[in-house]
Amino acid sequence: MYNSKITGLGYYVPDNVVTNEDLSKMMDTNDAWIQERTGIKERRWIQEGSEDTSAVMGAKASRIAIERAGLTPKDIDFIVFATLSPDYYFPGCGVQIQEMLEMRTVGAVDIRNQCSGFVYAMSVADQFIKTGMYKNILVIGSEFHSGGLDKTTRGRGVSVIFGDGAGAAVLSRTEDNTKGILSSHLHSEGKHAEELTVLAPSIRHWVPKILEENDENDESYFPYMNGTFVFKHAVVRFSEAIVEGLKTNNLQAADINMLIPHQANLRISQFVQKKFKLTDDQVFNNIQKYGNTTAASVIIALTEAWEKGKIKDNDLVVLAAFGSGFTWGSVIMRW
Ligand code: ACO
Repeated sequence: MYNSKITGLGYYVPDNVVTNEDLSKMMDTNDAWIQERTGIKERRWIQEGSEDTSAVMGAKASRIAIERAGLTPKDIDFIVFATLSPDYYFPGCGVQIQEMLEMRTVGAVDIRNQCSGFVYAMSVADQFIKTGMYKNILVIGSEFHSGGLDKTTRGRGVSVIFGDGAGAAVLSRTEDNTKGILSSHLHSEGKHAEELTVLAPSIRHWVPKILEENDENDESYFPYMNGTFVFKHAVVRFSEAIVEGLKTNNLQAADINMLIPHQANLRISQFVQKKFKLTDDQVFNNIQKYGNTTAASVIIALTEAWEKGKIKDNDLVVLAAFGSGFTWGSVIMRW
């Protein structure tokens, strides 16, 4: 039986830094509130007129990951792209990557699992490799949030949190079963779908209806989040997903060398760290610089941690995420 292992990592964030101070000029908010509640100091937002989109940023991150894997785009057998902010309502961004990277006409699938998107994407790719169907899969998480946020005081509970960016991993076949993805665990609970959602446009709320209504007070087009409710579920589900992964592999929290939690809120990561009695060296956070980049957050953090030399051969690496859906999950890897 084959196993799958990360052979290349890359990330890309737009140059444009937006500080909490910058936000306080657009809406009634302030640096102290944002830092105290979320840990975020700044985020990247695509500048107007830039060529960047979710697909374009995903392609930029992918080129780095593929090169670091010692491969070319022609070696990639399949594309898995996670995003909640695709360039088009349809088709998904995966097909754009196939074109942008001048790849063979390989299959491409989009994953729509928001903050858990990258964890889901890794799990999907892992199955294709474990069954022997593909050798090298490009797994991408990318978000262009800033184009769709309500940047007025009305939207402050959501818009201060989210940032733009992309990350990519190449997952490759290995015959060494002691290395690579040990297990992945995925969950959902759709009854909470509307606690963190964008309601429109949707097939129920499509262009003729939008034109007919033309109501500037309609908030359906902006993300809505029941923040406190989401927070309470996040801390529970993050922990469950980690415990499930550890149990499956007969491991303890103390065995974790690096936990990469989805960067939703520094307070959530700190809660999880404390619960599992992990030291600062066992958890990586970069929400301070990038905000919550949803499907891109885990892969950007994983890449940064690896670039900083914080992940070494044989380390036990845990990816865990929770988000809109609700969806949550974890991936446990031996590096
Ligand atoms: N600046 C200043 N004040 C604000 C802001 C802001 N940006 N936003 C809200 N406030 C005010 C509110 O109006 C409220 O005022 P009131 O007490 O007078 O009514 C007060 O601050 C407290 O607001 P809460 O929403 O209760 O603040 P809370 O402490 O819950 O923090 C936050 C909000 C940061 C959103 C938190 O709830 C959270 O992080 N939730 C979880 C997010 C998460 O995990 N998301 C999942 C992943 S995302 C995805 O899947 C797409």
